[in-house]
Amino acid sequence: MKLPVSFLCAAAAAALSFSVQAQSVKPDLAKGSAMYGQVCVACHAADGNSTTPANPKLAHQHPEYLVKQLQDYKSGKRDNAIMKGFASALSDADMRNIAYWLASQKDNKTGAATDKELVTLGERIYRGGIADRQIAACAGCHSPNGAGIPSQYPRLSGQQAEYTATQLKHFRDGTRKNNAQMKDVAAKMNDREIAAVADYIAGLR
Ligand code: HEC
Ligand code: HEC
Repeated sequence: MKLPVSFLCAAAAAALSFSVQAQSVKPDLAKGSAMYGQVCVACHAADGNSTTPANPKLAHQHPEYLVKQLQDYKSGKRDNAIMKGFASALSDADMRNIAYWLASQKDNKTGAATDKELVTLGERIYRGGIADRQIAACAGCHSPNGAGIPSQYPRLSGQQAEYTATQLKHFRDGTRKNNAQMKDVAAKMNDREIAAVADYIAGLR
């Protein structure tokens, strides 16, 4: 069947205005908070400041980054059995509502580095990278204090060290294949360097 061009253009324009509209609708923080309180709270804590080392802190993270992660769990680009289930149950609007509510929560700043010797190495890598192996400085993309750069580069400051180390290993082995830049960074790091930079990030403000 041949459709007239004018019909196709109208359909495309309608689809476009729909997606623009969906983007410009204000996220509903009350709905986000309620849904978070029913499901996510069990693992990520009431205010998004998880105290379980394997579960990331989500409070004060850039909302666009959180939405992207939920989409990537749903599609499988970020492979995690637990989060695939929870993310798949969310609509695009649910994701936005929860993400903007989380972004409005404060970091409770309880994170701290634990190993004096490791943290010195971690700080060096974070600030300067490892030049002779072309590992870029983390600070260049995640900012010197770990606040990230909205909306592309996530906040890292105060994150659970165990979670950060797991992510770097997942970028390295391809379990997490939702970002080429981070794959390049992690590919060249050894376990000790990963542990060091993760420990430094836990105490970074
Ligand atoms: C049973 C525990 C559990 C529940 C419930 C849970 N999560 Fe998670 N969540 C995790 C774990 C574990 C990870 C880390 C997975 C990985 O390694 O990728 C994670 C990761 C995430 C991330 C990625 C964070 C980042 O910094 O990249 C987001 C976003 C997230 N969860 C949001 C949610 C939301 C929203 C809900 C509720 C709809 C939820 N989680 C429910 C355990 C859980
Ligand atoms: C060229 C820019 C760039 C550099 C350099 C960089 N990152 Fe990233 N990083 C990113 C981007 C972009 C993401 C978000 C990936 C995504 O969308 O899933 C990210 C994500 C991460 C995450 C996942 C955060 C989370 O909550 O799950 C960690 C951990 C991380 N980076 C650590 C580091 C460390 C440590 C270094 C230095 C050794 C570093 N990054 C250097 C761009 C960069």
